[in-house]
Amino acid sequence: MRVAIAEARKGTGHTSPNPIVGAVLVARGGVVALGHHQKVGSAHAEVRCLESYGRRLRKSDSVYVTLEPCSTTGRTPPCTEAILASGLGCVVVGTIDPNPKHQGRGIATLRAAGIEVRVGVLADECTKLNEAFNKWVQTGRPLVIAKCGMTLDGRLTRGPGEDQWITGPAARRHANRFRAQVDAILIGAETLRIDNPRLTVRENPGGRQPWRVVLSRSGKLPGNAHVFTDRYANRTLLFENKPLDVVLDSLGQKDVTSVLIEGGGEVLGQALDQRLVNQVHIYLGAIFSGGPVIAFPGTGAPSTPEGLRLCDLRYEQIGDDVFISAKARSHPPRLQ
Ligand SMILES: NC(=O)c1ccc[n+]([C@@H]2O[C@H](COP(=O)([O-])OP(=O)(O)OC[C@H]3O[C@@H](n4cnc5c(N)ncnc54)[C@H](OP(=O)(O)O)[C@@H]3O)[C@@H](O)[C@H]2O)c1
Repeated sequence: MRVAIAEARKGTGHTSPNPIVGAVLVARGGVVALGHHQKVGSAHAEVRCLESYGRRLRKSDSVYVTLEPCSTTGRTPPCTEAILASGLGCVVVGTIDPNPKHQGRGIATLRAAGIEVRVGVLADECTKLNEAFNKWVQTGRPLVIAKCGMTLDGRLTRGPGEDQWITGPAARRHANRFRAQVDAILIGAETLRIDNPRLTVRENPGGRQPWRVVLSRSGKLPGNAHVFTDRYANRTLLFENKPLDVVLDSLGQKDVTSVLIEGGGEVLGQALDQRLVNQVHIYLGAIFSGGPVIAFPGTGAPSTPEGLRLCDLRYEQIGDDVFISAKARSHPPRLQ
């Protein structure tokens, strides 16, 4: 299953709105094929394995797959049919399908046909492969990652111009690479007006460009901004006068499974106040700036226990900066 997980990761950033999935085919006592889901509409991981091996299998042969095989026709035929036709005798599943409409159906179909199915091998790791997909398929709303480059005194402050960075080039490259893994990048209009960001994935030439989402109430936006005029202009969406949760629901309906909120402070503060943040990516620069643009202002938590507690923390030094990534614990109820 560890090999299948590594195989699944090869699809990172390419499969949305499908999950990343990996599979390993074990026949005649050894690994004979590997497969991963490459992109929407292409063969699923276990089918890719079976096709690449291409020979009749025996009851003693097994396929390991990180996610329950599908049993319905979607963009491709059901994987359960390909498994049954192959002749193999055992399927080892990492995690069951999180989609309430399909959950457990693939496993039941295989078992009913006499295949041995083992479920839950490295289940946590397999589930974590697809945090965005899992949330989106269960709630219709994308996973929200709040990201910013922050001074040690909690500011986002940047003036106009190219040399106003809080963090160094290595941290900025790190942040830019992550954009390739999300379906949308969201900013507030003030960030557009002051920074005129491109919100593109620089090291992914020819690759997928996430949607660029701009929020404005006033509608006062510079028509010559990069996001409206560059070659990805048709990947920019403008939402005017829509609450953030409604924007997220609209994006979910467009098959957006993950949104990276890249500021500014007002939008980040709203996301925090409205308890919409699932993960944070903070790049802490070795600098104090003071000034008015606070990273997460909003109205704030009424009391410390009602703040957003984090878990799964990772700290990484990148040049002189520190990258902190973490997940939101489930939100506590607001105290009355
Ligand atoms: N260090 C970093 O990582 C980083 C990242 C991004 C930005 N920044 C800096 O942050 C500053 C900008 O931040 P900011 O807090 O002033 O502003 P902001 O969050 O970028 O934008 C605020 C604006 O967004 C619009 N808006 C916010 N919520 C909305 C909603 N729910 N519906 C519709 N429109 C909504 C409004 O636009 P209208 O005014 O058009 O109505 C509002 O004035 C800039 O100095 C920028 O350089 C730093």
